[in-house]
Amino acid sequence: MPPAVGVAAALAGARPQRTVFSLFSLANRVVLVTGGHRGIGLEMALAMAEVGATVYCLDLPAEADADWRKVQSYAAQLPQLDNTKGRLEYMSGDVTNQEGMWKAVESIVEREGRIDVCVANAGISQTIGCLDYPAQEFHKIMDINVSGVFFTAQAAGRQMVRLGTPGSIILIASMNGSVANRNQHWSGYNTSKSAVLQMARSMACELASNGIRVNTISPGYTHSSMTRIVLQNKPNLEAELSEQNPLGRFGRPDELRGVSLWLASDASSFCTGSDIRVDGGQCAW
Ligand SMILES: NC(=O)c1ccc[n+]([C@@H]2O[C@H](COP(=O)([O-])OP(=O)(O)OC[C@H]3O[C@@H](n4cnc5c(N)ncnc54)[C@H](O)[C@@H]3O)[C@@H](O)[C@H]2O)c1
Repeated sequence: MPPAVGVAAALAGARPQRTVFSLFSLANRVVLVTGGHRGIGLEMALAMAEVGATVYCLDLPAEADADWRKVQSYAAQLPQLDNTKGRLEYMSGDVTNQEGMWKAVESIVEREGRIDVCVANAGISQTIGCLDYPAQEFHKIMDINVSGVFFTAQAAGRQMVRLGTPGSIILIASMNGSVANRNQHWSGYNTSKSAVLQMARSMACELASNGIRVNTISPGYTHSSMTRIVLQNKPNLEAELSEQNPLGRFGRPDELRGVSLWLASDASSFCTGSDIRVDGGQCAW
């Protein structure tokens, strides 16, 4: 039985202490974040390192660039928390390579002895009309956004089951898995993100008995390299897309820090098979 907390602790006459923040601790936990070289992935990786995790950022470049190294150094200089220090590590890899992903997580476990959290975040977007979509491009987006997410979650889940440890797997979907975009030609992307939502529900049901939780985060329009490409040379598009959500703006990657920590940590221990939307309210109207 875990120690009594909250109301139960109060009623049991326990020594009063703040326990709620420690729910979000990832001290001594090991995390994999794919697409963690920049953008939303790197922001979530740093948030997890801040609360004590060792975070492996896997991405395509052979070596991390100067910006990534700067974030790594920032994490290394953070003060200790609960006698532990988080850190960021970089790994080169391609999520579409199933065997490569299995080996990548195996090597993390060889080095760290465990894997507790996996964030399958790597993804691409495409803007192509549905009637003109070339097969090659459609295959490419499915390969990265669907197969790559599956192989990542699978690689982490296999090690968690082998080690007999619980874990949290977070798949990065999108509000576009649930709704289409007004005036945007994103049928390939939207199809891939719907698949991710159903993938998470299916894996959550299969893996619950192993103590592995699987959930999705569905961001709305968020500033990153991905959206920079969509917005470039279209001076009015950001304003047009911003009007489509009640908060009237794009989100920032740092606005996903809280939700990623909540899902990664014991703070969400009864949450699996869920989709958490962070979209400025876009799906609410
Ligand atoms: N930015 C948004 O508005 C938004 C909204 C909803 C969902 N998302 C999702 O969030 C995730 C992160 O997107 P972002 O906005 O930070 O974009 P981004 O382009 O800045 O980052 C994506 C990262 O994934 C990596 N990547 C691509 N293919 C890969 C592969 N085969 N193997 C390994 N890594 C690969 C890229 O190199 C890049 O570092 C994506 O899944 C995206 O679909 C983004």
